[in-house]
Amino acid sequence: MPRETIHSCSRCGFCSPQWHGQCPGCGEWNTLVEGARPRAPGEHGRARPGAGRVTAGRREAPVARPLREIAPAALRRLSTGVGELDRVLGGGLVPGSLVLLGGSPGIGKSTLTNMALGHLALAGKRTLYVSGEESAEQVRLRAERLGPGALAVPILAETDLEAVLGVLAAEAPQACVIDSVQTLGAAELAGAPGSVGQVREVAGRIMQLAKERAIAVVLVGHVTKEGGLAGPRVLEHLVDCVLQFEGERERPYRELRALKNRFGSTNEAGLFEMRQGGLVEVLDASARFVAEATRAPGSAVLAAMEGSRPLLVEVQALVAPSELEQPRRVVSGLDRNRLALVLAILHRHGRVPTGGADVFVNVVGGVRVDEPGCDLAVALAVASASRGMPLSGTPRACFGELGLTGELRWVGHPERRLQEAAKHGCRAVIAPPDSGPGACEAPTLAQALALALPAGASRPHAVA
Ligand code: TYD
Ligand code: MG
Repeated sequence: MPRETIHSCSRCGFCSPQWHGQCPGCGEWNTLVEGARPRAPGEHGRARPGAGRVTAGRREAPVARPLREIAPAALRRLSTGVGELDRVLGGGLVPGSLVLLGGSPGIGKSTLTNMALGHLALAGKRTLYVSGEESAEQVRLRAERLGPGALAVPILAETDLEAVLGVLAAEAPQACVIDSVQTLGAAELAGAPGSVGQVREVAGRIMQLAKERAIAVVLVGHVTKEGGLAGPRVLEHLVDCVLQFEGERERPYRELRALKNRFGSTNEAGLFEMRQGGLVEVLDASARFVAEATRAPGSAVLAAMEGSRPLLVEVQALVAPSELEQPRRVVSGLDRNRLALVLAILHRHGRVPTGGADVFVNVVGGVRVDEPGCDLAVALAVASASRGMPLSGTPRACFGELGLTGELRWVGHPERRLQEAAKHGCRAVIAPPDSGPGACEAPTLAQALALALPAGASRPHAVA
């Protein structure tokens, strides 16, 4: 029986069976969102683990117990056969869990999930691929490129939520992919598929079934231009794990990151390359990025940490005189505010003014570095570009966080960063104090600049 719908205000929580343009509760416009009416106590609903047990028709009062008396849950994980995906998930998919995989269109979400289900099918697991975006024929065309396992996966091309739930309940797959959560719709809700209410209902109902039947579900979701997951952010709270697949469409490298993970670390990242036969794991990323580093003015090698793994990446900068009143600050693979901060510190403590210049900074290969340890590489790349001089002794790796008073601050895992740099031929790594033997320690930005860009060298392309 279809459930009643209700409209609730996303600002003040006011609920009404009718939709109002202006919320009668708080007076805001367009804040009411349609959703299914919550179930009343006693109505059949999702069985919460640990909720009072039912004996002879009567519900026992729930009792709180010390944590030490709770038996540890034995997590049986399903290996997806894609090493980097398993690592980011924390060891594989957990039965009964919901994973939200976000990424912009064309980045490779369908390819990655097709490959994972293909490997699971080859390993004898029951799988199901629900496609609301592409026809079964289109999905088959992709699967042909991905090898024999992908063709063994059963597909359901359907957008009606009830129909999908019916097949899920009947087939009881061990792993299921919904591609995408924005294309499924519940007929009883008026909003179009992809609307806030619809996406919330779709994810909630699928989660209920997944928990009951121990199905590991991957919900594919699109990312908006601003980089957030399209549809409601409420999905991020609902699911157990949020994965983000990112990279530049024009470049082959793709990075998979966990933004939230109830069953593993959120520090891990996996690197892939899109090739003709699907996504290939990149296990020698540092070697590739160092070999590709240009060593020209504006290029610095950063010894970064991607979760528990060290990674050498090239940071490139271009500084050019600006004709604009407000010069451009363009970043790719970094936080824009971080660049603003580094430029201010460079000006104040490094005597590298960029106020009248456009500054472009790019982490090469479509990789994203989200750690404070990248500050020094950005500063050295900008200073090198601004002075038109390559860094001395390139490829010269560096790492370290910049403080507001111009000091270079210690960052985590210096020994692993140094080891990775030495392994790939980057010696004399510029690093903060206490980084360990083998580092060229610099307590301040000014000292790091003096090491990397010694005064007296020629400045053929300096930007005024
Ligand atoms: P897709 O997985 O469909 O992206 P998404 O689901 O995130 O929208 O893949 C997108 C691109 O990947 C597409 O432009 C074609 C390319 N591609 C390859 O280069 N090699 C392959 O083997 C496959 C399957 C896709
Ligand atoms: Mg797709």
